[in-house]
Amino acid sequence: MTNYPRIDHADWWRSSVVYQLYVKSFADSDGDGVGDLDGVVEHLDHIAALGVDAVWLNPCYPSPNRDGGYDVADYLTVDERFGGLPAFERLRDACHRRGLRLMMDLVPNHCSDQHAWFQAALAAGPGSPERARFHFAEGRGPDGAEPPNNWRSTFGGPAWTRVPDGQWYLHAFDATQPDFNWEHPAVAEMFDDVLRTWFDRGVDGFRIDVAYAMVKAHGLPDLADPEGENPYLWNQPGVHDIFPRWRKIADSYDPPRNLLGEVWLPPAQIADYLRPGELNQAFYFDLMQQPFEAGAFRASVSATFAALDGAEGVPTWTLNSHDVHRAVSRYGLVEPEPVRSADPNAIRTRARGRVDVALGTCRATAALLFVLALPGSVFLYQGEELGLPEVQDLPDEARQDPIWARSHHTEHGRDGCRVPLPWSSGAPAYGFTTGSAWLPQPDWFAPFAADTQQADPASVWHFYRRAVAAHAELDPGVGLQWLDAGRDDVLAFRRGSVTCVVVFDGEDFVAPEEWGDPLVATRDVAGRSCPAASAAWFRR
Ligand code: NOJ
Repeated sequence: MTNYPRIDHADWWRSSVVYQLYVKSFADSDGDGVGDLDGVVEHLDHIAALGVDAVWLNPCYPSPNRDGGYDVADYLTVDERFGGLPAFERLRDACHRRGLRLMMDLVPNHCSDQHAWFQAALAAGPGSPERARFHFAEGRGPDGAEPPNNWRSTFGGPAWTRVPDGQWYLHAFDATQPDFNWEHPAVAEMFDDVLRTWFDRGVDGFRIDVAYAMVKAHGLPDLADPEGENPYLWNQPGVHDIFPRWRKIADSYDPPRNLLGEVWLPPAQIADYLRPGELNQAFYFDLMQQPFEAGAFRASVSATFAALDGAEGVPTWTLNSHDVHRAVSRYGLVEPEPVRSADPNAIRTRARGRVDVALGTCRATAALLFVLALPGSVFLYQGEELGLPEVQDLPDEARQDPIWARSHHTEHGRDGCRVPLPWSSGAPAYGFTTGSAWLPQPDWFAPFAADTQQADPASVWHFYRRAVAAHAELDPGVGLQWLDAGRDDVLAFRRGSVTCVVVFDGEDFVAPEEWGDPLVATRDVAGRSCPAASAAWFRR
C-alpha cells in the first residue's frame, strides 16, 4: 500500500510543499452540494500537476459541522457525507500511487458536544468521572449564574456555557466544542489510540489543531483584562509534555510519521515546539500577518531563524488557509474597514474593504516566491493556485461560520475563503457540484476557474507550477544568507546557487549579473529588470 515513487526519504517534510484541502469546498462527486473525498480523487491530478509533495485534509470525521468539522463527534472514522472509510482508502491509495503523502487533521483540544464522552458527561452529572474528562465547574454569584471565570471564547462571547443542572463547561471556541481536560490520563490515552489508528491506516502525518491550547493554567484564574490576549489558555509549559509521547508513536512507524503544529505564537516562542523529540514542524503565521513591506518580511524571517538554534524541526510557511482572508485580498486591500474581533489574529488577517485585485495578485505571487525560497516547508491552500481573491460579498443569510453569530453579526468570519472552488468557467456551479453548492459562488468567479487558468500560459496557475518546480531544485540542507540590495524596499537573499529578490515598491530593480540567469519570476524580468510588487529567482 505504501509506495512512494517520487519521495523516498524519511525526511520528506523538511522542504515539502503541501496542498491544503478544505474537503467540503474542493469538489463534490455525488451532487449533494458538499465536497467529498471521491471528489478529491477525481481532481487529484490537478494537485499532482502542481508538483507538491503531500496533501493535508481538514477534518473529515463525523461531525455536526458547527465549526467546519473542528467539532469532532468520532475521531476514528470518516463522515459518510465525505464517503466514509471506503472513500478515505480510495483517496489514500490514489495519493500514494502518485507519490503524494497524505496528512490528516488531529483536533485534540476539544471535541463536539455530540461526542460520546461529552454526552456521557452530561448524563452522569456533577462530580462524576465522566465530567472529569472535560472542564466542568460551578458558576459564581448567588445562584452560580455567573461563569466560573472571565475568559472569552476565541469566537466571541463567554468561554463557558451552562448545562441544565447548573454547572458550566469550558470551550475555547464555540459552545458546541467542549475542551478536554488534559490533566485526565484517559484523554491522552484516547489520543494515542487515534494516532495509531490512522497511522496504521496509512496516514503519513497530522496537522495538530491549536497545538498550544490543550493544557490550561492550573486553577483557571481570572484574567486581568478579559478583552486582551489570554495567557492562561495558550502556550502553557505542560503542553510540551504531550508531544514527546506523540513523537514516540510517530517514530515507531517506518517511515516515521510527521507531526505539524498549528501554533499562533511569535517566532521566538514557536521554536520550543520544534525541540528534539517534540514536533517536526510548526506553522509560522507571523509572516502571514505582516504587511507587504520589506522590513516587516525580513524581521519576521530573521526572528524565526534566530530562535531556531538547537531545534530539530523546521519552520512551515503559509500565506493562506481556511482561517484567514486570501492573500490576494489581504495584500491588495487599498481601503480597509476597521475590524472588531475577540481574536487578535483575526484583526491582522481578516480586514475587509476595497481590494485592488491586480495589485494583490502581483504581491501574493511575489510573497509566494519569497516563502518558497526560504528553508523549511510551504503549505498552499486550495484555490490560491487559481489566484482566487476573498469572497467578501457573500449574502449574510448564507454565512455558516459560528463567528458570525457569536459576534452578533459584527464579524463576518471565515466563509469567504471557503467558497467552493470553480473548476469549469461555463458549467453550473462552475463544475463544483451537479447540485447546489453549500456556499454560493459569486458571478465573478469565471476567470479564476481551473479550465480558464490552465488555458492561459500567463495565469497564476502556470506560475505556481513553475515556482513549485523551481523549489524542488533547492538544496534543503542549505541555509539563507541575506544580501544588501542597497534599497529599503527590496529584499534579497541567497540559498546556495539561487538568489531570491523581492521588489516591494518603488523603481524597477536591476539584478546584478553575478546572480546568474533568471530561473523563475512573477513578472517579466527581461533585461534583469524587476518591477515593483514582483519577485524573481536567479541562478548561477
Ligand atoms: C483552528 C482551526 O484552523 C479553525 O478552523 C478552528 O475553528 C479552530 N482551530 C478550532 O478548532
